[in-house]
Amino acid sequence: MQKYAKETDIVHGIHTSHITTMDLVPPIHLTSTYRFRDADHGAGIFNGTDKGYAYTRMGNPTVDLFQEKIALLEGGEAAIAASSGMSAIAAAAMTLAGPGDNFVSCTTVYGGTYALFQHDLAKWNIEARFIPPKSCCSIQSIESLTDQNTRFFYIETPANPTMDVIDIELWASVAKTHQIPLVVDNTFASPYLQNPLSLGADIVIHSTTKYLNGHGDIIGGVVVASNDMIDRIRKGYIIHYGPIMSPFNAWLILRGMKTLAIRMEKHSDNAMKIAKWLQMHPNVEKVFYPGLASHPGHPLAKKQMKKFGGMIAFEVKGGISAGKRLMNKVKLCILAVSLGDCETLIQHPASMTHSTYTPQERADAGISDGLIRLSVGIENADDIIADLDQALR
Ligand SMILES: Cc1ncc(COP(=O)(O)O)c(C=O)c1O
Repeated sequence: MQKYAKETDIVHGIHTSHITTMDLVPPIHLTSTYRFRDADHGAGIFNGTDKGYAYTRMGNPTVDLFQEKIALLEGGEAAIAASSGMSAIAAAAMTLAGPGDNFVSCTTVYGGTYALFQHDLAKWNIEARFIPPKSCCSIQSIESLTDQNTRFFYIETPANPTMDVIDIELWASVAKTHQIPLVVDNTFASPYLQNPLSLGADIVIHSTTKYLNGHGDIIGGVVVASNDMIDRIRKGYIIHYGPIMSPFNAWLILRGMKTLAIRMEKHSDNAMKIAKWLQMHPNVEKVFYPGLASHPGHPLAKKQMKKFGGMIAFEVKGGISAGKRLMNKVKLCILAVSLGDCETLIQHPASMTHSTYTPQERADAGISDGLIRLSVGIENADDIIADLDQALR
């Protein structure tokens, strides 16, 4: 089979023309259930001897198209879509670990992920063991938290919101030694900029709410892995707990994804220009962007990413009160959480996305009270700079 470049697969990958009507764009299969030709056909679908669909919680052609497409782009065998990024994370974690088990992660992850790991999984007697930012790329630190009950490793890179870059190959090598899977949240990079499976990871997770959909109009998530692993997650969690992706959302994501390559190019180019400008601004204390040579993760980001993405964090001189004034003064940038949309979004992690952390936990994760997070959009970079400049002044 002819192999195409990533941009081409993003547009054409997985046949999308309807077999009889030949639509360019696939139809949305908005149905909760499916007809059986006869009783034996229905029984055959349920026992797996017949191919076909029975009920949308168990499978839907539009959701399948999205799953096949993301599996192709991440270089995985299969994928299972979920109702949100959080349900994709919960599905993977709760399939891999059970009561009495533990797993190792880093303190720098999305605030919702941290809360799930630290508080909710604990109720199921699943213990999360966290490594602080400075030791996140130390084999010794990972080893010291790993024992015979460790069921998986979980990292996010670049990490939310500090833009720490975590070494996927390093974690994968320790995971291989212990014969446990490495799970990587690839939301910030998208499959266009980074492919964790090709670096040795076993499972990739996305909040499809962000760059994959790219237009801020749905919530969704997905897990990509081997056929066996996806089968376990589908049967062991998604079908029975029920957090499925709706066919309509799958269709919107498929539509949004067609422009993923050009959006990620523009997000990355804009963010690079803005990060360089912020770094020189007299009212800015510190800029965290993996594309800057001053960022400690820059050499690693260069190795494992194609470009550096659209996410920037920065500290304004004057701490939290100056940061709040900045957020209240922007006119073009929109004060909102989430990320990966066409619009530039600005927010305050300590009081918003990472408010699930205690002040001590935030300090341990390197999230200062004055940190501002910018999800750089695809507008003209100079317009974003002009807006930030008037607000900073
Ligand atoms: C890196 C990352 N992973 C996962 C999630 C959770 O995704 P969702 O909001 O789609 O549940 C988020 C949400 O912001 C995120 O930033």
